[in-house]
Amino acid sequence: MKKDSGKFGVHIHWYPGHIAKAERQLKEKLNLVDVIIEVRDSRLPLSSSYANIEKLLGEKPRLLLLNKSDLVDRSELKKWVEYLKQTTGCPVIVTDAKGAKDLALVVKHAVELSEPKIQALMAKGLLRRAARAMVVGMPNVGKSSVINKLTKSSKTKIGAKAGVTRQQQWVRINPKLDLLDTPGIIPTRQDDQEQAVKLAFVSSVSENAYSPEPVAAALLEMFNDNQQVKDYYKVDELSLENIALSRRWVIKGDSPDTERTAIYVLKDFREGRLGLFILDEMPEA
Ligand code: G4P
Repeated sequence: MKKDSGKFGVHIHWYPGHIAKAERQLKEKLNLVDVIIEVRDSRLPLSSSYANIEKLLGEKPRLLLLNKSDLVDRSELKKWVEYLKQTTGCPVIVTDAKGAKDLALVVKHAVELSEPKIQALMAKGLLRRAARAMVVGMPNVGKSSVINKLTKSSKTKIGAKAGVTRQQQWVRINPKLDLLDTPGIIPTRQDDQEQAVKLAFVSSVSENAYSPEPVAAALLEMFNDNQQVKDYYKVDELSLENIALSRRWVIKGDSPDTERTAIYVLKDFREGRLGLFILDEMPEA
């Protein structure tokens, strides 16, 4: 376990053993597919992935989904779409896997991206087959929700394929696309404590890895002078103590119940009640 508290002064624990195992499992699944659908949290367009994610995912065609777009400012997100398109070279699609009726655009792009591979197979004399895709991403970014939306209209489970373990089920999305019905999990490997704390803000690290008080305090520090957040909590200065007192959440001896407050502050942020925020900063060109 590595000890190093970043700019937030909070430490998130990470476990190298779990990470190695998760990466191994992810790589096994990646071998089965032609195209990768990487889901990120729109609140963290960079921090909900790695800088050198290609190293882990390989060179396969990849489609980026900025999910939970309902929780951020759309015009800010547009700038991130352009930035990510340019820096990754991948198509980028904005999604709300909770609210959207379907994700037809995702299917369209996945089919297009895998077409060169299918054409190459046909050039070798093989018959055309459906492209194989899988959804990957860090915990809680919405991978299962995306899979559910993509497979909702298709009940066709097509079972195991040659060379594929029995547990892996494929679902036929349309004649040109099969999808693995379970996602690949990108482990939240965090040598970078600033990134780890941001991931804790959006519930992408296990609650066992941190205590809520310092994480919620760090979140409030990020909102420092944000009037909208101050108004929401009816305080002049953002701190767990002030918020607890303004809500009269006190414990023995009239001291502020910062533990209870921390849990609520994190919940308020995660459910979008504090406003629509993107927490990453776009690097300078
Ligand atoms: P995962 O597989 O990547 O771990 O994520 P999962 O799909 O389980 O989604 C994690 C949580 O995020 C779920 O909430 C899910 O409803 C929510 N979610 C997924 N996509 C979106 C989105 O685009 N916008 C918003 N606002 N939320 C999204 P939960 O609280 O765990 O469950 P529930 O609210 O569905 O009951």
